[in-house]
Amino acid sequence: MSDKYAVIGNPIAHSKSPLIHHAFAKESDQSIAYTAELIPLDGIEAGLDTLQQKGFKGLNVTVPFKEQVWQSLTDKSERATLAGAVNTIVFNDDGSRYGDNTDGVGLCLDLTQNHGIDLANKRILLLGAGGAARGVIQPLLAFQPAQLTIANRTLRKAQTLAALFNHLGPIRAASFEQLTDNFDLIINATSASLRGDVPPIPSASISSQTFCYDMMYSNTDTAFIQWAKKHQAVKTSDGLGMLVEQAAESFRLWRGIKPNTQTVIDLLRQ
Ligand code: ATR
Repeated sequence: MSDKYAVIGNPIAHSKSPLIHHAFAKESDQSIAYTAELIPLDGIEAGLDTLQQKGFKGLNVTVPFKEQVWQSLTDKSERATLAGAVNTIVFNDDGSRYGDNTDGVGLCLDLTQNHGIDLANKRILLLGAGGAARGVIQPLLAFQPAQLTIANRTLRKAQTLAALFNHLGPIRAASFEQLTDNFDLIINATSASLRGDVPPIPSASISSQTFCYDMMYSNTDTAFIQWAKKHQAVKTSDGLGMLVEQAAESFRLWRGIKPNTQTVIDLLRQ
């Protein structure tokens, strides 16, 4: 029988994870079953117990449970601890539960390998200071950018994040009004795109050399990507590659094999 995996969330019906992981399995000649499991909003602990009892080997975790699963885990990786959230769980044979976070590495792999961006010495602007932003800070700093600026509508939240990661590299917090210089790379980690909004980024932040990346993915240009194109960004991308790369890293944790991601990105773009 195939090993069982699932993505858990609420809502979950539109998740692309089953499609992605089945494509990985086919591509790497692995036999797995991967489903999307709807968990009641107040039922995460019981949900984890049930899936573990049913013999699932691992889970992906999405909104709104990435922080909530925390206390139900036996061990967590350092990157999950720094991210303050878990997107991958491994159910070990001894019954223990290991939590990891592959979102940040997924973003960095998409930027560096799929888009060919060298992050070293770059001036990076990260928009937003919620969970999505926090999850990518440590992996970005690991590439030794010249500066990582976190800009947020609520400045205090950006300052809290900057203080939290200060020991790992050159990071600073700013309000949108405080942004005066341009950046090599602007990453949108706000939830503004979900509502078709663009954060109030000064046009001075973008030049014709700026790469703009929206961590959200969409079949049509997000509001942020439209803004970037209007301001002559050198290149833009949505977060589909990040989605596939974080999934590949989860797959590697569970199966010990890193699948080929480009074919799956191409498949999802069709
Ligand atoms: P997530 O876990 O997806 O990061 P979150 O923790 O609710 O979600 O954070 C959402 C982020 O998007 C925050 O940084 C939020 O800014 P505030 O902290 O000031 O609320 C940001 N955000 C949401 N809508 C926005 C908008 N229209 N313009 C600018 N920033 C926005």
